[in-house]
Amino acid sequence: MSEPILSIRGLTKTYANGPRALDNVDLDIRAGEIFALLGPNGAGKTTLIGAVCGLVRPTGGTITAFGHDLARDWRAARARIGLVPQELATDMFETVWRAVSYSQGLFGKPRNPARIEEILRSLSLWDKKDAQIRALSGGMKRRVLIAKALAHEPELLFLDEPTAGVDVELRKDMWEQIAALKQRGVTIILTTHYIEEAEEMADRVGIIQRGRIRMVDEKRAMMERLGTTEAVIELAAPLAAVPEALAGFGAVLSEGGTRLTYRGGNGQGRGRAEVAQLAQALTRAGIGFTSLDIHDSSLEDIFVGLLGQEQEAA
Ligand SMILES: Nc1ncnc2c1ncn2[C@@H]1O[C@H](COP(=O)(O)OP(=O)(O)O)[C@@H](O)[C@H]1O
Ligand SMILES: [Mg+2]
Repeated sequence: MSEPILSIRGLTKTYANGPRALDNVDLDIRAGEIFALLGPNGAGKTTLIGAVCGLVRPTGGTITAFGHDLARDWRAARARIGLVPQELATDMFETVWRAVSYSQGLFGKPRNPARIEEILRSLSLWDKKDAQIRALSGGMKRRVLIAKALAHEPELLFLDEPTAGVDVELRKDMWEQIAALKQRGVTIILTTHYIEEAEEMADRVGIIQRGRIRMVDEKRAMMERLGTTEAVIELAAPLAAVPEALAGFGAVLSEGGTRLTYRGGNGQGRGRAEVAQLAQALTRAGIGFTSLDIHDSSLEDIFVGLLGQEQEAA
């Protein structure tokens, strides 16, 4: 693996009179990836982003971005990092154009109106450029935040809950915007508590809970390693017992012997292949079935399962 563009070691944050929001977090981010930090409310996602973006002072640990230790040399790295914050904190009385231009200047970038026009057009904000931000819909306001974050052309962009409280259509739209940024080579870290969002967008997923990273992996690997496949087969006629020929599949009879349920295959590929073999074995044994429903567990099942385990352990 090439050098990570962001490297976090032992990051801890305890707020004054507050909880330990981050507990010894280690995390490496690779250039060009979309990394989803997935966790319930209060898990520490915004705190983690704040620590990297200079908004939260860590209690301990180190953060290295683009080879610079942020505690000693944050300016050099900071200009290369963009943030779309969770809260809609921006000057509501500014026009779209002025707010985005201002952000461009903030990091010492030369004014570049052509670039701002390009950003506003790409976010469908061009015809709103002279509107006051307060006059825009919630979704449009969020796009202004993205435009502001893009104005200084960050190489690493944080999106803190980019689609929280946004309707489904706009969420899809936002996903497209984020995919387009990745195409342009921007490394993206997004936080979300929507599993669907991590499942849709991310190359890798980190699961955070109570300030601790519970798991980090390629999304696909996570789903394959922890995923299960379930198949429900409705039989044409009831069986008294699972026939010998099917014993190896671990399928279970229910509903008076008319339903056969298979659950297994740590790894979606293997689970599906086993279901196919099971169907063939049924046919070979002369057992008819009227339907076969197959379901692969989602990231959601994995997430809920992980958090459930911890609650049991706690
Ligand atoms: N400024 C603050 N002062 C005290 N506690 C805070 C502050 N910001 C966040 N917290 C607490 O730290 C924990 C993590 O919060 P946060 O990072 O916002 O989580 P998330 O973004 O995952 O919802 C929560 O328990 C929250 O109440
Ligand atoms: Mg948050």
